[in-house]
Amino acid sequence: MVLVAPSILSADFGRLEEEVHKVEEAGADYLHLDIMDGHFVPNITFGPQVVKFLRKKSKLIFDVHLMIKKPENFIPVFRDAGADIITVHVEACPHLHRIIQNIKQLNCRCAVALNPATPLEAIKWVLNDLDMVLIMTVNPGFGGQDFIPNMIDKIQQLRKMIDERNVSNEILIEVDGGITPANASKIVEAGADVLVAGSSIFGADDPSAMVKFFKGITTGV
Ligand code: DX5
Ligand code: ZN
Repeated sequence: MVLVAPSILSADFGRLEEEVHKVEEAGADYLHLDIMDGHFVPNITFGPQVVKFLRKKSKLIFDVHLMIKKPENFIPVFRDAGADIITVHVEACPHLHRIIQNIKQLNCRCAVALNPATPLEAIKWVLNDLDMVLIMTVNPGFGGQDFIPNMIDKIQQLRKMIDERNVSNEILIEVDGGITPANASKIVEAGADVLVAGSSIFGADDPSAMVKFFKGITTGV
C-alpha cells in the first residue's frame, strides 16, 4: 500500500496544529517537513523549533527534508527536535557516506534526495545504507510547481536498481513535487512507495478526502 506524506509547506501556518491533525486523522503515514535555508534553495521556511513544537502535538512519523547547505551541522538538532527520518540532498553533501553514517548512529532513518538533474549514479555506492531515496520531481524550493514528466523514467530506473540488488533490506522510494490526483497513479505504477503532496492536499477543499484518495491508489498487482 502506498504511503502518504503531506507536506506542511502548503498548510496554513497560522493554524498548523489543526492542519496536522486533519491529515493525521485522515490516515497520513508521514508528516513531511521541508526545511529551506535560502542558500541551497531560493526560499526560507522554518527551523527545528517548529518541528519540536509539532512533535508534542502529533504521533505521525516526522519526515524531515533538509534543503540546506552543510546539513551535517544540523543533524543532531533535528533529531533532538523529533525527526524520525532525515533526508539530505546529495548535491549538498561532498561527504555523503559520512553523513549517512552519522544519521544512522543517531537512530534516525536515513534518506538521500536527488534533484531532477542529478543522476541515480550519485547514490550507487551508498544505496544499501539507505532506508529511503527521495526523487525530486520539481526543482526544490517551492510548493505548487508542475511535475517534471521525464522523472517517471527516473523512478522506474531507481525501482529497477533497488529490486536488482542482492541485498534484502527494504529501501523505499519517495517522490516529492507536483503530485496531483491526475498523475499519482502513474507515479505509483512507476515504483513510488511514498507520495509527498503539499498543495494538492492542503490546497484542497477537503484535505482529508485528498489524503484518503492518495492512500487508495493501487498498482493493480
Ligand atoms: C519542494 C518541497 C516539497 C513541496 C511539494 O521543494 O520539497 O515537499 O512541499 O509541494 P507540492 O506538492 O505542492 O509540489
Ligand atoms: Zn520536500
